[in-house]
Amino acid sequence: MSTQIRSSAVQNARRVTTQTLQQMKAEQTPIAMLTAYDYTSARILDQAGVDVLLVGDSASNVMAGHETTLPITLEHMIYHAQCVVRAVRRALVVVDLPFGSYQGNSKKALVSAIRVMKEAGAHAVKLEGGRPIVPMIERIITAGIPVMGHLGLTPQSIYKFGTYKVRAREEQEAEELARDAVRLEQAGCFAIVLEKIPAQLAQQVTASVRIPTIGIGAGPHCDGQVLVTHDALGLTTDFNPRFVRHYAHLADTITDAVQAYIRDVRTRQFPGPDESY
Ligand code: KIV
Repeated sequence: MSTQIRSSAVQNARRVTTQTLQQMKAEQTPIAMLTAYDYTSARILDQAGVDVLLVGDSASNVMAGHETTLPITLEHMIYHAQCVVRAVRRALVVVDLPFGSYQGNSKKALVSAIRVMKEAGAHAVKLEGGRPIVPMIERIITAGIPVMGHLGLTPQSIYKFGTYKVRAREEQEAEELARDAVRLEQAGCFAIVLEKIPAQLAQQVTASVRIPTIGIGAGPHCDGQVLVTHDALGLTTDFNPRFVRHYAHLADTITDAVQAYIRDVRTRQFPGPDESY
């Protein structure tokens, strides 16, 4: 299919909503989600047919070069979300509430979520955590804002965990995570990301809730999968956990292209007569 035909098909396609995802779970159609942070990439991903675009706080790592997701601010997230929303015609756009913008105070959580929806035109927000943030989730949902949960390895808590290793291998943590998934469903979340937990636990959680689970490093039994786009496309070269599959090697492609350009400039082969006025 040509790019032109595909993009007009996307323009005519019905928008993905939280109800679409619910229906996909019911029909056992796996949900494909990727991260996006800028207009140009979001446009390509949307036109390619991805169901959900997550403006992840992983922007802190892959866009800003920070070691963790903690430094990114609400203002930064709103900026990235605005760029993505401008590009998207079909996908559901979910935006991470960053560290410090919702924890500990449900009124603050609501204000942050409203800013993301109003200033960026997002379709939903995502919050990390279980029982302690249920009041914040409930408060946000009272304003009619859809919330996606996130359990398991929640990167905003990296200093509590002390490591990026698989979570919930121990029985007690696994049982608490399973209870948290039910709590998030009861609080009104429309989906839950399960990050870096054993596949068997993810399978059990997926069967125990009616809302879709989206896995990252959580095995094949989730209702959908998410990857950081920079990892999936091979733009990041220094991050190779086993849950990442590289669908391209864009760092190599870009390096080759840039070196070819430098060569052409140095040898005066660029610009040629057809590229000059
Ligand atoms: O910020 C992010 O990219 C995420 C995904 C890893 C799920 O939260």
